[in-house]
Amino acid sequence: MDNYAKITYEGKTYKLPVVKGSEGEKAIDISTLRQKTGLITLDPGFANTGSCISSITFMSGEKGILRYRGIPVEELARHSTFTETAYLLINGVLPTRNELNRFSVLLNDNSLVHEDMQIFYQNFPRASHPMGILSSMVNALRSFYPELQTVEEEINKTVTRLLSKTRTLAAMSYKISRGHKVIYPRTDLPYCANFLNMMFDSPVKPYRINRDMVKALNVFWILHADHEQNCSTSAVRVVGSGRVNLYAAISAGIAALWGPLHGGANQAVIEMLSDIAKNGGDIDTVIKKAKDKNDPFRLMGFGHRVYKTYDPRAKIMKKMCDKVLKKLKINDPLLDIAKKLEEIALNDNYFIDHNLYPNVDFYSGILLRAMGIPTKMFTVMFAIGRLPGWIAQWKESADDPKWRLSRPRQIYTGPTKTKYIPIDER
Ligand code: CMC
Repeated sequence: MDNYAKITYEGKTYKLPVVKGSEGEKAIDISTLRQKTGLITLDPGFANTGSCISSITFMSGEKGILRYRGIPVEELARHSTFTETAYLLINGVLPTRNELNRFSVLLNDNSLVHEDMQIFYQNFPRASHPMGILSSMVNALRSFYPELQTVEEEINKTVTRLLSKTRTLAAMSYKISRGHKVIYPRTDLPYCANFLNMMFDSPVKPYRINRDMVKALNVFWILHADHEQNCSTSAVRVVGSGRVNLYAAISAGIAALWGPLHGGANQAVIEMLSDIAKNGGDIDTVIKKAKDKNDPFRLMGFGHRVYKTYDPRAKIMKKMCDKVLKKLKINDPLLDIAKKLEEIALNDNYFIDHNLYPNVDFYSGILLRAMGIPTKMFTVMFAIGRLPGWIAQWKESADDPKWRLSRPRQIYTGPTKTKYIPIDER
């Protein structure tokens, strides 16, 4: 088999190497294309562009596969914890018991945030979206913890700080938004239980750790932990390529995740399902709107750039929803609407022809609602879960001796050289 591709242009043929991944994926390496031919490639939305070579996450959009460092996400969701999965993604291998204990201790040791950061929260207008606040606060961490990033030990410290403090900042913002007393992290609690305690404990009603909730949160965050070169991860890599500090790169990732086509979809799904409920459960109108080319409305929580089959994360999320709601004896009418909507869409020719299936966000909001997380915080929950992936991807690029500044090109279609006309002569 050829290990190069040929391109013929203006009578000349050029050979470009073909790169092969461990799962058989192939790419044409076009890094010398412009130098050889004067041509660049044009690929809006980067749908056909590989931006890096990576050994972190493998996904197959056709087969519905998602694996972190080779391990299927289904196995991790069943057996692992979010902390262990974060270690796996960032360090490349599963930790030994000692390594995991050390990592958990480090996370706990770094869970407090500087008291002065609480003052920032008071100055955001009441209606601020928690994602905007989180992005700003994570960027601000750099001012409070301004270590160098070049020494390995310092990088590890920054990584644990980010994982631990971002979770504390998120819970803190929720408490402050309600005008309630901030609950501090506890060193005796593991990562997920600690978060739930910071969210729901209060001086008048102590929070009792619920094992089912802790398991559900572990699964929720494991499912969101990485997803190769998606919009926010690409943002982290691109911003990081300018050699900015890790806090700023992660802050950019949080901002990118906020959008409703990306992580913000989990909030948008619940808003859509609530609208359907308010309109007496009228699903047909929503389906009609989603299919109408003249209507910008899309069925939120459906479709994916890579998955052309059922998102493997959505399958696990749907099962988790059923399990948690049953355990808590919650009857959420939005779950019934979601299931009905899914059934109608999956049997509709438009959705079949366009390969549109539920993605991770379709059921995740229902799980978060059952856990008592307010809708405005849903994308923040996604962001905490995605931290290990962003960090692992940033680290992988920073460790690459060929790490280059991200700087795409363009095809210019504006005016050609134009004379300046003084203002009085226009
Ligand atoms: N509802 C109705 N039509 C859709 C939808 C949808 N949710 N998604 C895609 N389409 C149609 C689209 O109109 C287009 O039709 P046509 O070819 O006839 O013009 C075709 O499918 C391809 O759409 P596209 O926008 O070119 O596809 P994309 O790969 O650029 O978009 C997407 C992927 C996720 C942005 C899109 O499916 C979407 O907007 N979904 C709703 C938002 C959502 O749920 N986002 C969460 C994604 S998963 C979480 C994450 O990892 O970010």
